[in-house]
Amino acid sequence: MFIFAATGSAVGLGNIWKFPWMVSESGGGAFVLIYISSVILIALPIMIAEVFIGRHGKQNPVASLQYLSKESSSFDVTEIDGDLNRIKTKKQQYSNSDDYSNWQLVGWGGIIAGIFILSFYSVIAGWTMSYILKAGSGAFNLIDLEGSKMIFANLVADPIKLMGWHTVFMILTCYIVAKGVKGGLEKAVKFLIPGLFLILIALALYSTTLNGFGDGMRYMFVPELSKISPSVVLSAIGMAFFSLSIGMGSLMVYGSYLSNESSIGEVTATVAFADTSVAILAGLIIFPIVFTYNLDPSTAGPGLIFETLPIAFGSMPGGSIIATLFFILLFFAAITSSISLIEPAISFLIERHSMSRAEASIKMGLLTWFLGIGTLLSFNLISDYKLLGMNFFGILDGLTSKIMLPLGGLLMAIFTGYIVKKKIVMDELRMGPIKFNFWLILIKYVAPIAVTLIFVRGLL
Ligand code: PHE
Repeated sequence: MFIFAATGSAVGLGNIWKFPWMVSESGGGAFVLIYISSVILIALPIMIAEVFIGRHGKQNPVASLQYLSKESSSFDVTEIDGDLNRIKTKKQQYSNSDDYSNWQLVGWGGIIAGIFILSFYSVIAGWTMSYILKAGSGAFNLIDLEGSKMIFANLVADPIKLMGWHTVFMILTCYIVAKGVKGGLEKAVKFLIPGLFLILIALALYSTTLNGFGDGMRYMFVPELSKISPSVVLSAIGMAFFSLSIGMGSLMVYGSYLSNESSIGEVTATVAFADTSVAILAGLIIFPIVFTYNLDPSTAGPGLIFETLPIAFGSMPGGSIIATLFFILLFFAAITSSISLIEPAISFLIERHSMSRAEASIKMGLLTWFLGIGTLLSFNLISDYKLLGMNFFGILDGLTSKIMLPLGGLLMAIFTGYIVKKKIVMDELRMGPIKFNFWLILIKYVAPIAVTLIFVRGLL
């Protein structure tokens, strides 16, 4: 169940929509190289820490963090019980244990990051839904680059349409969350992920037949080291956090589903591997198309896959059917991620404020929906309103991926590495000593130092 839920959360628009766009923005192979290194050295170790906190705390993120910090701040006192003349041990809190409850702020930050992300995620998921209908009606048949760009431009220029799709997607997300039918959806992941893999592999095979295949591969896998800059590294680390759904508590919530027998290291590695494969496959498909049709990847922007994929679909036999199926699968991948984005907030409201699931979903849904309006308007009416060169969507995306998620992950690493008692972590992870110590070095030194350095250099 955990693997289904966590893979459902991880694999989503991030892999197929955002990853290729980020690769193109940062100049190709250098980004891919740093991305994969960040997944292995920073994101996966933190993913293990996050799932550990969830499984041990077994509550919403805020409460789990509080529980663990309390537990780790207690110590055993041994005293002689005079009457019975025997030694007894009791737990006592350090007098400054209140300080430790500040760690719940990490949970709070995560709840807010989840709502921020979902607000724009839903708008992009709306594009996907609109593309299901376009694909089904044969709109992509024999389309060229101009035609494809036009279809996308017409969609994002229309606030009413965007609002309609955004509303439908938020209603569906909230309905699923309110009903608590996640179980069913998680089982659907069993078919969804293999389905998505299959269609992506078919598309990747198609891409090998294109003239631009060689250029596409070179672009993705031959890093131009001169393109590595602090901001590229920050964007790759942020992308790794976003894609693996870490740093905001989703996996903490899902970690509480994980049975005590399962090995946290193994299941998280499985999820990370599946997630990274989907992202790389998406790149293998997109970039040959980009180079075949002489698109300039550096100016592509968030419309990249919506402008390129239809050309490929339009020129292959049975393209309409494959395209429809593709966007349906992408929509399902998006919805299994969106429920995990809102779940930290929902579980918090239910447990802490005794709200019903339905009430919590409606309230959070409305808030997120409202915030999403800012994003959908930043593609049309308010596209010119900019702060630091970014429009509303750019700010929200940058704030969450480049600041909130890495910061959340950094704090989770410090919390698990330095605050939680080592014995509790060891008992919960049950790794061999070599693996455990390797993980500990990554979580105590490598991840915090790398993230801090890159924060200092990348944000300035
Ligand atoms: N990982 C999801 C994706 O790649 C997005 C997400 C981010 C979901 C953070 C939950 C938490 O699409």
